[in-house]
Amino acid sequence: MIELSRRVRSLPGYPLAEIPAIKRRLIESGVDVIDLGAGDNDMAPPEVAVAAMGEALRDPAYSKYGFQQGLPAFRQAAVRWVERRFGQRFDPATETLPLIGSKEGLSHLPLAVVNPGDVTIVPEPGYQAYLGGSLLAGAEPHVVPLRPENGFLLDLDAIPEDVLRRSKLVFVNYPNNPTAAVAPLAYLERTVATCRRHGILLAYDNAYCDLTFDGYRAPSIFEIPGAREVAVEFFSLSKSFSMTGWRIGFAVGNAELIGALTRVKSYVDTGPFLAVQRAGAVALDRAEELVLPVRQELERRRDAAVAALRESGFALETPKAAMYLWVALPPGIASAAFATRALEQTGALVLPGSAFGPAGEGFFRIALTVGPDRLRAAAARLGQTLGAIQRGDLAPAS
Ligand SMILES: Cc1ncc(COP(=O)(O)O)c(C=O)c1O
Repeated sequence: MIELSRRVRSLPGYPLAEIPAIKRRLIESGVDVIDLGAGDNDMAPPEVAVAAMGEALRDPAYSKYGFQQGLPAFRQAAVRWVERRFGQRFDPATETLPLIGSKEGLSHLPLAVVNPGDVTIVPEPGYQAYLGGSLLAGAEPHVVPLRPENGFLLDLDAIPEDVLRRSKLVFVNYPNNPTAAVAPLAYLERTVATCRRHGILLAYDNAYCDLTFDGYRAPSIFEIPGAREVAVEFFSLSKSFSMTGWRIGFAVGNAELIGALTRVKSYVDTGPFLAVQRAGAVALDRAEELVLPVRQELERRRDAAVAALRESGFALETPKAAMYLWVALPPGIASAAFATRALEQTGALVLPGSAFGPAGEGFFRIALTVGPDRLRAAAARLGQTLGAIQRGDLAPAS
């Protein structure tokens, strides 16, 4: 028998890991499943990206190794977009890095800065790659609960000084998955100041910066003076352009930090497929026009789902960004029991808050992955499950 490493054994179960199998079983038995689980919406990728990919596939040059340098045209399109979008300039050669999706960069980043036993600060509920990447690098994650009374902000100043002194890296993600919270500039200023004071690398995960509603604009961390000394920011083409499976994103930051991540990656991967980088460059250059319909559709979905969920008996706020609704359950109803019953008895697939760690308990997450009618149908089914549990038809599990 081969004994697995302590690192691998320390990884908690991945929240989405078992869902495809359950979903397949239900569909095979004739259940109409409405899948609001993974943040993977049903819209098509941009036609211009598909066309660019098709052309690149026919050119053998794009079938070669990309290595970390990748396609210079992708790096240039990435920094052009960052400048248009946030007014921040980065050097395409030394201050940006193509990623095989931003998850890949986020999860490899700890290897660049932590030594075994160093602390990484990880939000909970939060994107699981922060915890996984930390554990695989031998770091000691310090998990910080995100609370509704705090606007779901990760407050570094509430962390004990001795923990901050041992910390090398913090993951900050706004617009947030799963809570859909957004961060005020004053919060980002405080966070940058604390990171500078303690020499903590700030990994700013901005995967949802384009998915904003009601005129809200999500900032870059680099709009905060001094952030360049301590931050690396991660962007993704997955959500903005409905290109989740293409695996393309990028990081920007100062040359030393980007250089360190480049060194790590040069030992574990060979960069995103060059044809995907070609398509990504085309999409980024037309981002303003291509993202607009995605944002508008998500806003319609958000409005339909929020109204229908309220009618079904749930209390929730209307989020300003991201593609999720983070819905509170009445006290005493365990989120895993609720989600399991909703799925098995009505075919509505949502993620229980507890899948994002214990601090997510008391909530469930809806991803706005289908159109308004299906979202309304899902809300009605979730309301039936809630009503049945409240009436005692289904005893709430503990
Ligand atoms: C907060 C957050 N960051 C990063 C990612 C990763 O995106 P990708 O690897 O597709 O770029 C996701 C995906 O769901 C996410 O929710």
